[in-house]
Amino acid sequence: TFVVTEACIKCKYTDCVEVCPVDCFHEGPNFLVIDPEECIDCTLCEPECPIEAIYPEDDLPAGQESFIEINKELSEKWPVITAMKDAPEDADDWAQVKDKAHLLER
Ligand code: SF4
Ligand code: F3S
Repeated sequence: TFVVTEACIKCKYTDCVEVCPVDCFHEGPNFLVIDPEECIDCTLCEPECPIEAIYPEDDLPAGQESFIEINKELSEKWPVITAMKDAPEDADDWAQVKDKAHLLER
């Protein structure tokens, strides 16, 4: 399965949702997650994210392992998103910021 990682927090560009053939993406206030039960590992979303926030679960960057459980948990709670929408106005200001995990709104 593929996993949305910390980089997406407060950026949420949503390019990723348009290409998913099985509508795996779920939207929260400032982050998106992938439903691991639905993802068919097609790989299409990974190159769509302009800030490279999406990784295969077995090739996550160091320190991002907790996002496996976060994607699973929040995909059960948040609604599906299938159409691209405007990113937050200040998304570009957050694109290079590290350590955003504490800013995740559930
Ligand atoms: Fe959807 Fe494919 Fe990305 Fe999985 S890898 S979330 S199926 S686009
Ligand atoms: Fe997030 Fe990248 Fe998609 S910032 S919403 S994973 S395009």
